[in-house]
Amino acid sequence: MNDKLPMTKREFQSADDTGHNNSDSPSFTSILEARMSRRSVLKGSLGLLTTSMLSFGIAGCNDGGSDGGSDDDNETPPLTLSFNPIAKSLADMVVVPAGYTATPLYRLGDPINTSTPAYLNDGTDTAASFQYRCGDHNDGMSYFGLNSAGNGWDASNSERGIICMNHENITRIFLHTPEEVAAYNVSARVAAEVDKEVHAHGVSVIEIQKKSGVFAVNTGSSFNHRITAATPCDIYGPARSHALMVTAYSPNGTQTRGTLNNCANGDTPWGTYLTCEENWAGYFKSGVATHTAQEQVAMQRYGVTSSNGSYGWANSTTAGDLYDRWNAGVTGASANLDYRNITNTFGWVVEVDPFSPSAAPRKRTALGRMGHEGCCCAKVTAGKPLVFYMGDDAQNEYIYKYVSAANWDSADANKGMAAGDKYLDKGTLYVARFNADGTGNWLKLDIAEAAIAGYATYSFANQADVLINCRLAADAMGATKMDRPEWTGINPANGDVYVTLTNNSSRGSAGKGLDAANPRYYQDSKAGNSPNKGNVNGHILRWRENGSDPTATSFVWDVYLFGAQAKADTANVNYDEAFYQAHINLSDLTDDNDFSSPDGLWFSRKTPGLMWLQTDDGAYTDMTNCMLLAALPGTVSDGAAVAVTSKVVPANGDADQSVTTYVGKAPGDKLKRFLVGPKGCELTGITETPDGKALFVNIQHPGENTTAANIGTPANYESHYPDGGTARPRSTTLVITRNDGGPVGV
Ligand code: FEO
Ligand code: CA
Ligand code: CA
Repeated sequence: MNDKLPMTKREFQSADDTGHNNSDSPSFTSILEARMSRRSVLKGSLGLLTTSMLSFGIAGCNDGGSDGGSDDDNETPPLTLSFNPIAKSLADMVVVPAGYTATPLYRLGDPINTSTPAYLNDGTDTAASFQYRCGDHNDGMSYFGLNSAGNGWDASNSERGIICMNHENITRIFLHTPEEVAAYNVSARVAAEVDKEVHAHGVSVIEIQKKSGVFAVNTGSSFNHRITAATPCDIYGPARSHALMVTAYSPNGTQTRGTLNNCANGDTPWGTYLTCEENWAGYFKSGVATHTAQEQVAMQRYGVTSSNGSYGWANSTTAGDLYDRWNAGVTGASANLDYRNITNTFGWVVEVDPFSPSAAPRKRTALGRMGHEGCCCAKVTAGKPLVFYMGDDAQNEYIYKYVSAANWDSADANKGMAAGDKYLDKGTLYVARFNADGTGNWLKLDIAEAAIAGYATYSFANQADVLINCRLAADAMGATKMDRPEWTGINPANGDVYVTLTNNSSRGSAGKGLDAANPRYYQDSKAGNSPNKGNVNGHILRWRENGSDPTATSFVWDVYLFGAQAKADTANVNYDEAFYQAHINLSDLTDDNDFSSPDGLWFSRKTPGLMWLQTDDGAYTDMTNCMLLAALPGTVSDGAAVAVTSKVVPANGDADQSVTTYVGKAPGDKLKRFLVGPKGCELTGITETPDGKALFVNIQHPGENTTAANIGTPANYESHYPDGGTARPRSTTLVITRNDGGPVGV
């Protein structure tokens, strides 16, 4: 979700905005001491570095990629980005390169069956109808081809398939009438309005078909259904039936209702969809003070502290269990009589079977509870465990990976949820530590670890408790606090793992000092706003697991890209251009590819090595709307070590800091801006047909900066995308094709 706007414009303060990690982090000294010998040549040289670069290519580092060779051996012809980059844009429209067409496919409110009327988009569409409409804030999504019989998975079908899509959040004012918006009271909500908002969250499962060369939703498909924030879900894995999962709805702790704040996604080798619950904490009326001291520690760590919940769903003026369920306070005599544990049933990776509409989604607790951004499966090898990478998106949170206990058997490829039970319910959860020398380690989150078993801040009852409170377990293990981990992705060309770190306004503040993997702290001005501070524009980290084995417990990392403006902002009086280029624009971005706040990151499966990058920005939006870029990244360690000085504004009283990081080779023309969205949107969610000729992306929350006071004045809406005129804006799924019918991007 977009968490980069000034708080005065945001109704919903998510965990991202401030972060809730006050644990001690490893000091820079201790990280330095952890340097490994392979970087020792650098260690002796760093004192001599100022702004100069030093090659740090490591012999053997590129060897043994999943393709069995290095990128230098010319096994495949070099890829190029075959389009001309587009300019930054502030227009209320979608801009794509010459030779491409972007067409709306699925918009907020669109019916998914033949009995639901067309969307009126004036706030009068009913709450009940939203169970059969496109939800709001289209986000992560995956395409699953349908077989010729139309009843199962065919990963090669580019003409007909099922898209599973997340609906992360809502722009509340555009769901209701002007009169309802004017009467809004977070302490006393109208039940029908709450119901509509609940139904506008969750997941869409829709069949799409190409007819006469054009994709459309097949509203007659029996696969089509909505999962909302009220749909019954099953709890699977180690936390199933745990005492901390008991609620009045499910006294045995095996179920909950709804999936919430579904952000990025993943899919499995057995053809199911993974939807990830991100900023769920703020939705609940926490009642934190009514809880035990130990429970309060857990709630604080996850940011479950809201007095009303972001939309006041617990405060319906109509009594009922559907609204009580949003109150996490202790209101009954025991846990099976209230919802004190309700927040423990959110924050999971949730499995959905696209081909079994009647199957309840399963919350896979072995993958840990956090602000899950996405869940990306590493290269699958028969006879080896499956590995999934996950970011926890809040300031100063961590990067995780899950390694299944079971080894992959390709006979499971069509077993649906049963395969999920096998691979996603039993395994090992790890958290990442990034060392100053460019290496890293995966730290096991297991109750048997002395640091976890003996953790003074929180007393873990057992392994299920470790998974329910894995942020606390990761604190205990000394994981590295990151600049908001968003999407993860695997380069199929070489197995390198990527993660976007979108930004971090607290980086560089007390207790949140710089480290090699989070090395920037600077100030950037924004027209009409206070300057932003910290890691303003974000960066993209990547690593290669030792031996290119996804199950390895150590790795080598560098920073693929640093987001930045191409040139120093003239209002940034404290930086001259030379300093800016040497210490902030570390990836030598130009007007053709400069970007801020990377979020969505996805590798094409049709074209190995082609990466797509989406932004969710609030820092560079005085110059451009959010965007989609195409990239052809190199490999981990293809760049140089760089000493970065964070020269802060003297008036802030902060001391300059300096740290050495590892920067990938500058992208040059292997990074180009491909699409710029309309006003107030973020770009998020991406998938493609198996032939690579149709790319699907989401325009999320266009016009979200429209104020409630302007809801009755359509001409004043920030955006009217996609319908134009004075229409209310709508989150929209686009299908992008090349006019000559070729693959998108290359
Ligand atoms: Fe929902 Fe971190 O983006
Ligand atoms: Ca996101
Ligand atoms: Ca600026």
